[in-house]
Amino acid sequence: MTFDQWTRQVLDRVESALDHYLPAADVQPAPLHDAMRYAVLGGGKRVRPLLCHAAGELTNAAPEALDAAACALEMIHVYSLVHDDMPCMDDDDMRRGKPTVHVKYDEPTALLVGDALQSQAFVTLTSDVPGLGAGLGDSAQRQASLVRELALASGSIGMAGGQAIDLASVGHALTRAELETMHRLKTGALLRAAVRMGALAGETPSAQTLAALDKYAAAVGLAFQVVDDILDVTADSATLGKTAGKDAKDGKPTYVSIIGLDASRVLAQQLRADAHAALEPFGARAQRLAELADLVVNRVS
Ligand code: IPE
Ligand code: IPE
Ligand code: MG
Ligand code: MG
Ligand code: MG
Repeated sequence: MTFDQWTRQVLDRVESALDHYLPAADVQPAPLHDAMRYAVLGGGKRVRPLLCHAAGELTNAAPEALDAAACALEMIHVYSLVHDDMPCMDDDDMRRGKPTVHVKYDEPTALLVGDALQSQAFVTLTSDVPGLGAGLGDSAQRQASLVRELALASGSIGMAGGQAIDLASVGHALTRAELETMHRLKTGALLRAAVRMGALAGETPSAQTLAALDKYAAAVGLAFQVVDDILDVTADSATLGKTAGKDAKDGKPTYVSIIGLDASRVLAQQLRADAHAALEPFGARAQRLAELADLVVNRVS
Protein backbone atom coordinates (compact mmCIF):
# COMPACT_ATOMS: atom_id res chain seq x y z
CA MET A 1 0.00 0.00 0.00
CA THR A 2 1.33 3.46 -0.83
CA PHE A 3 1.47 6.15 1.83
CA ASP A 4 -1.38 8.02 0.08
CA GLN A 5 -3.57 4.92 0.09
CA TRP A 6 -2.78 4.25 3.75
CA THR A 7 -3.53 7.87 4.67
CA ARG A 8 -6.82 7.85 2.80
CA GLN A 9 -7.86 4.65 4.49
CA VAL A 10 -7.11 6.00 7.98
CA LEU A 11 -8.77 9.35 7.22
CA ASP A 12 -11.94 7.59 6.04
CA ARG A 13 -12.05 5.47 9.21
CA VAL A 14 -11.45 8.46 11.43
CA GLU A 15 -14.04 10.64 9.69
CA SER A 16 -16.79 8.07 10.18
CA ALA A 17 -15.64 7.36 13.75
CA LEU A 18 -15.81 11.08 14.56
CA ASP A 19 -19.32 11.20 13.13
CA HIS A 20 -20.18 8.22 15.33
CA TYR A 21 -18.61 9.52 18.55
CA LEU A 22 -20.04 13.04 18.31
CA PRO A 23 -23.63 13.43 19.48
CA ALA A 24 -26.02 13.71 16.51
CA ALA A 25 -27.03 17.24 15.49
CA ASP A 26 -30.65 16.66 16.52
CA VAL A 27 -29.78 15.56 20.07
CA GLN A 28 -30.67 18.31 22.54
CA PRO A 29 -29.21 20.88 23.01
CA ALA A 30 -29.18 20.77 19.20
CA PRO A 31 -27.48 24.16 18.61
CA LEU A 32 -24.47 23.08 20.70
CA HIS A 33 -24.20 19.70 19.00
CA ASP A 34 -24.55 21.34 15.60
CA ALA A 35 -21.66 23.68 16.47
CA MET A 36 -19.50 20.82 17.78
CA ARG A 37 -19.99 18.93 14.53
CA TYR A 38 -19.30 22.08 12.49
CA ALA A 39 -15.98 22.48 14.31
CA VAL A 40 -14.82 18.86 14.04
CA LEU A 41 -16.15 17.30 10.85
CA GLY A 42 -14.92 17.70 7.30
CA GLY A 43 -11.70 19.59 7.77
CA GLY A 44 -8.19 19.60 9.13
CA LYS A 45 -5.19 17.50 8.26
CA ARG A 46 -5.91 14.96 11.06
CA VAL A 47 -2.20 14.67 11.86
CA ARG A 48 -2.81 13.42 15.41
CA PRO A 49 -5.16 10.61 14.30
CA LEU A 50 -2.64 9.59 11.61
CA LEU A 51 0.21 9.48 14.15
CA CYS A 52 -1.93 7.46 16.53
CA HIS A 53 -2.81 4.87 13.87
CA ALA A 54 0.78 4.64 12.66
CA ALA A 55 2.15 4.08 16.19
CA GLY A 56 -0.56 1.50 16.88
CA GLU A 57 0.71 -0.63 14.01
CA LEU A 58 3.89 -1.21 16.02
CA THR A 59 2.00 -2.90 18.87
CA ASN A 60 -0.75 -4.59 16.83
CA ALA A 61 -3.44 -2.39 18.32
CA ALA A 62 -7.02 -3.11 17.26
CA PRO A 63 -8.12 -0.62 14.57
CA GLU A 64 -11.30 0.15 16.52
CA ALA A 65 -9.25 1.01 19.60
CA LEU A 66 -7.06 3.29 17.49
CA ASP A 67 -10.14 4.98 16.02
CA ALA A 68 -11.40 5.79 19.51
CA ALA A 69 -8.01 7.11 20.63
CA ALA A 70 -7.64 9.07 17.38
CA CYS A 71 -11.08 10.66 17.79
CA ALA A 72 -10.36 11.59 21.40
CA LEU A 73 -7.11 13.26 20.30
CA GLU A 74 -8.82 15.13 17.48
CA MET A 75 -11.61 16.34 19.79
CA ILE A 76 -9.07 17.78 22.23
CA HIS A 77 -7.17 19.33 19.32
CA VAL A 78 -10.31 20.93 17.86
CA TYR A 79 -11.31 22.21 21.30
CA SER A 80 -7.89 23.87 21.52
CA LEU A 81 -8.36 25.44 18.08
CA VAL A 82 -11.86 26.75 18.84
CA HIS A 83 -10.61 28.42 22.03
CA ASP A 84 -7.33 29.55 20.39
CA ASP A 85 -9.36 31.46 17.79
CA MET A 86 -11.61 33.28 20.28
CA PRO A 87 -11.24 37.06 20.70
CA CYS A 88 -9.72 36.59 24.18
CA MET A 89 -6.89 34.55 22.63
CA ASP A 90 -5.73 34.93 19.00
CA ASP A 91 -8.94 36.51 17.69
CA ASP A 92 -9.07 34.74 14.33
CA ASP A 93 -12.09 34.61 12.05
CA MET A 94 -11.04 31.80 9.70
CA ARG A 95 -10.17 28.16 10.48
CA ARG A 96 -9.98 25.21 8.13
CA GLY A 97 -11.22 27.48 5.35
CA LYS A 98 -14.45 28.33 7.18
CA PRO A 99 -15.58 31.03 9.63
CA THR A 100 -14.40 30.22 13.16
CA VAL A 101 -16.98 28.92 15.63
CA HIS A 102 -17.41 32.20 17.53
CA VAL A 103 -17.96 34.01 14.20
CA LYS A 104 -20.37 31.45 12.73
CA TYR A 105 -22.25 31.01 16.05
CA ASP A 106 -21.27 33.24 19.00
CA GLU A 107 -18.67 33.45 21.77
CA PRO A 108 -20.58 31.58 24.48
CA THR A 109 -21.20 28.77 21.98
CA ALA A 110 -17.49 28.63 21.08
CA LEU A 111 -16.57 28.41 24.76
CA LEU A 112 -19.04 25.59 25.31
CA VAL A 113 -18.03 23.75 22.13
CA GLY A 114 -14.50 23.59 23.51
CA ASP A 115 -15.66 22.51 26.95
CA ALA A 116 -17.98 19.85 25.56
CA LEU A 117 -15.42 18.49 23.09
CA GLN A 118 -12.96 18.07 25.92
CA SER A 119 -15.48 15.98 27.84
CA GLN A 120 -16.54 14.07 24.74
CA ALA A 121 -12.91 13.09 24.17
CA PHE A 122 -12.89 11.20 27.46
CA VAL A 123 -16.35 9.72 26.85
CA THR A 124 -14.95 8.41 23.55
CA LEU A 125 -11.80 7.05 25.11
CA THR A 126 -13.74 5.13 27.74
CA SER A 127 -16.23 3.63 25.30
CA ASP A 128 -16.54 -0.09 24.83
CA VAL A 129 -14.73 -1.03 21.61
CA PRO A 130 -12.64 -4.06 20.61
CA GLY A 131 -9.24 -3.81 22.22
CA LEU A 132 -10.26 -1.10 24.65
CA GLY A 133 -13.49 -1.87 26.43
CA ALA A 134 -14.76 -4.70 28.57
CA GLY A 135 -13.83 -8.27 27.69
CA LEU A 136 -10.06 -7.99 27.56
CA GLY A 137 -8.13 -9.01 30.66
CA ASP A 138 -6.12 -5.84 31.01
CA SER A 139 -8.44 -3.50 29.16
CA ALA A 140 -9.34 -1.34 32.16
CA GLN A 141 -5.66 -0.70 32.79
CA ARG A 142 -5.04 0.05 29.14
CA GLN A 143 -7.95 2.46 29.04
CA ALA A 144 -6.79 4.20 32.21
CA SER A 145 -3.31 4.67 30.79
CA LEU A 146 -4.75 6.28 27.64
CA VAL A 147 -6.96 8.57 29.69
CA ARG A 148 -3.97 9.66 31.73
CA GLU A 149 -1.82 10.31 28.64
CA LEU A 150 -4.50 12.49 27.09
CA ALA A 151 -5.34 14.35 30.31
CA LEU A 152 -1.69 15.13 31.02
CA ALA A 153 -1.04 16.29 27.46
CA SER A 154 -4.07 18.61 27.43
CA GLY A 155 -3.71 20.26 30.81
CA SER A 156 -1.54 22.85 32.50
CA ILE A 157 1.68 20.90 31.96
CA GLY A 158 0.68 20.28 28.35
CA MET A 159 -1.38 22.17 25.78
CA ALA A 160 -3.22 24.56 28.15
CA GLY A 161 0.05 25.42 29.88
CA GLY A 162 1.69 26.13 26.53
CA GLN A 163 -1.19 28.39 25.55
CA ALA A 164 -0.78 30.27 28.83
CA ILE A 165 2.91 30.87 28.06
CA ASP A 166 2.02 31.89 24.48
CA LEU A 167 -0.46 34.52 25.65
CA ALA A 168 1.86 35.84 28.35
CA SER A 169 4.69 36.15 25.82
CA VAL A 170 3.03 38.51 23.35
CA GLY A 171 5.35 41.42 22.71
CA HIS A 172 8.24 39.83 24.64
CA ALA A 173 11.48 38.52 23.18
CA LEU A 174 11.73 34.99 24.52
CA THR A 175 15.04 33.18 24.69
CA ARG A 176 15.35 30.25 22.34
CA ALA A 177 15.03 27.85 25.29
CA GLU A 178 11.83 29.56 26.48
CA LEU A 179 10.40 29.43 22.97
CA GLU A 180 11.18 25.72 22.70
CA THR A 181 9.47 25.04 26.03
CA MET A 182 6.38 26.94 24.88
CA HIS A 183 6.21 25.01 21.61
CA ARG A 184 6.79 21.65 23.25
CA LEU A 185 3.86 22.30 25.56
CA LYS A 186 1.31 24.00 23.34
CA THR A 187 1.71 21.70 20.33
CA GLY A 188 4.28 19.01 21.12
CA ALA A 189 2.48 17.51 24.10
CA LEU A 190 -0.62 16.46 22.18
CA LEU A 191 1.39 15.13 19.24
CA ARG A 192 3.49 13.11 21.68
CA ALA A 193 0.30 11.80 23.27
CA ALA A 194 -0.92 10.76 19.81
CA VAL A 195 2.14 8.59 19.31
CA ARG A 196 2.15 7.17 22.83
CA MET A 197 -1.58 6.47 22.88
CA GLY A 198 -1.36 4.61 19.59
CA ALA A 199 1.38 2.40 20.99
CA LEU A 200 -0.35 1.95 24.35
CA ALA A 201 -3.60 0.91 22.67
CA GLY A 202 -2.01 -2.39 21.61
CA GLU A 203 0.24 -4.99 23.24
CA THR A 204 2.07 -3.37 26.16
CA PRO A 205 5.10 -1.64 24.63
CA SER A 206 8.52 -2.23 26.19
CA ALA A 207 10.33 0.61 27.93
CA GLN A 208 12.76 0.76 24.98
CA THR A 209 9.92 1.02 22.49
CA LEU A 210 8.30 3.86 24.42
CA ALA A 211 11.65 5.63 24.81
CA ALA A 212 12.31 5.45 21.06
CA LEU A 213 8.80 6.66 20.31
CA ASP A 214 9.25 9.53 22.77
CA LYS A 215 12.38 10.64 20.93
CA TYR A 216 10.53 10.46 17.63
CA ALA A 217 7.55 12.36 19.03
CA ALA A 218 9.71 15.05 20.60
CA ALA A 219 11.30 15.75 17.22
CA VAL A 220 8.04 15.62 15.25
CA GLY A 221 6.16 17.64 17.88
CA LEU A 222 8.64 20.50 17.82
CA ALA A 223 9.01 20.32 14.04
CA PHE A 224 5.26 20.66 13.68
CA GLN A 225 5.14 24.03 15.43
CA VAL A 226 8.35 25.27 13.78
CA VAL A 227 6.68 24.61 10.42
CA ASP A 228 3.44 26.25 11.65
CA ASP A 229 5.51 29.36 12.44
CA ILE A 230 7.20 29.22 9.01
CA LEU A 231 3.93 28.81 7.13
CA ASP A 232 2.41 31.77 8.95
CA VAL A 233 5.04 33.88 7.17
CA THR A 234 5.41 32.09 3.83
CA ALA A 235 1.95 30.75 2.91
CA ASP A 236 -1.24 32.55 1.96
CA SER A 237 -4.53 32.43 3.84
CA ALA A 238 -6.36 30.49 1.11
CA THR A 239 -3.77 27.68 1.22
CA LEU A 240 -3.60 27.65 5.01
CA GLY A 241 -7.36 27.90 5.57
CA LYS A 242 -6.53 30.39 8.34
CA THR A 243 -5.28 33.98 8.39
CA ALA A 244 -1.64 34.16 7.32
CA GLY A 245 0.76 36.70 8.76
CA LYS A 246 -1.07 36.75 12.07
CA ASP A 247 1.92 36.00 14.33
CA ALA A 248 3.93 39.08 13.31
CA LYS A 249 0.82 41.24 13.43
CA ASP A 250 0.08 40.10 16.99
CA GLY A 251 3.70 40.30 18.20
CA LYS A 252 3.88 36.55 18.91
CA PRO A 253 7.30 35.11 19.59
CA THR A 254 7.87 32.39 16.97
CA TYR A 255 10.84 30.50 15.56
CA VAL A 256 10.81 32.85 12.59
CA SER A 257 10.85 35.97 14.78
CA ILE A 258 13.59 34.61 17.05
CA ILE A 259 16.00 32.67 14.78
CA GLY A 260 14.82 33.81 11.33
CA LEU A 261 13.23 32.02 8.38
CA ASP A 262 16.32 30.26 6.99
CA ALA A 263 17.46 28.91 10.36
CA SER A 264 13.88 27.77 11.06
CA ARG A 265 13.87 25.79 7.82
CA VAL A 266 17.21 24.22 8.67
CA LEU A 267 15.92 23.33 12.13
CA ALA A 268 12.79 21.70 10.71
CA GLN A 269 14.92 19.48 8.46
CA GLN A 270 17.24 18.65 11.37
CA LEU A 271 14.25 17.59 13.45
CA ARG A 272 13.01 15.45 10.56
CA ALA A 273 16.37 13.67 10.54
CA ASP A 274 16.18 13.26 14.35
CA ALA A 275 12.73 11.71 13.97
CA HIS A 276 14.00 9.24 11.38
CA ALA A 277 17.01 8.34 13.54
CA ALA A 278 14.76 7.61 16.51
CA LEU A 279 12.84 5.07 14.42
CA GLU A 280 15.92 3.04 13.44
CA PRO A 281 15.31 0.26 16.01
CA PHE A 282 11.95 -0.51 14.38
CA GLY A 283 13.19 -0.87 10.79
CA ALA A 284 10.49 -1.19 8.15
CA ARG A 285 7.77 -1.59 10.79
CA ALA A 286 7.94 2.17 11.41
CA GLN A 287 7.55 3.14 7.75
CA ARG A 288 4.31 5.05 8.33
CA LEU A 289 5.76 7.01 11.22
CA ALA A 290 8.77 7.90 9.08
CA GLU A 291 6.51 9.04 6.25
CA LEU A 292 4.46 11.11 8.69
CA ALA A 293 7.61 12.90 9.88
CA ASP A 294 8.22 13.86 6.25
CA LEU A 295 4.62 15.00 5.88
CA VAL A 296 4.81 17.18 9.00
CA VAL A 297 7.99 18.91 7.87
CA ASN A 298 7.32 19.20 4.13
CA ARG A 299 3.65 20.17 4.32
CA VAL A 300 2.43 23.37 2.66
CA SER A 301 -0.64 23.94 4.84
C1 IPE B 1 -2.87 24.04 14.10
O1 IPE B 1 -2.87 22.64 14.06
C2 IPE B 1 -2.57 24.50 15.47
C3 IPE B 1 -1.29 24.05 15.96
C4 IPE B 1 -1.21 23.22 16.95
C5 IPE B 1 -0.07 24.55 15.35
P1 IPE B 1 -3.03 21.84 12.71
O2 IPE B 1 -2.13 22.43 11.67
O3 IPE B 1 -2.89 20.39 13.01
O4 IPE B 1 -4.54 22.18 12.30
P2 IPE B 1 -5.58 21.30 11.48
O5 IPE B 1 -6.09 20.26 12.42
O6 IPE B 1 -4.90 20.70 10.29
O7 IPE B 1 -6.65 22.28 11.12
C1 IPE C 1 -2.12 27.01 18.57
O1 IPE C 1 -0.98 27.61 18.11
C2 IPE C 1 -1.80 25.84 19.40
C3 IPE C 1 -3.05 25.33 19.99
C4 IPE C 1 -4.24 25.53 19.49
C5 IPE C 1 -2.92 24.55 21.18
P1 IPE C 1 -1.24 28.74 17.03
O2 IPE C 1 -2.03 29.87 17.61
O3 IPE C 1 0.06 29.05 16.39
O4 IPE C 1 -2.15 27.94 16.00
P2 IPE C 1 -2.78 28.57 14.70
O5 IPE C 1 -1.63 29.12 13.92
O6 IPE C 1 -3.77 29.59 15.13
O7 IPE C 1 -3.40 27.38 14.02
MG1 MG D 1 -2.36 30.64 19.49
MG1 MG E 1 -3.76 30.84 16.72
MG1 MG F 1 0.35 29.41 14.31
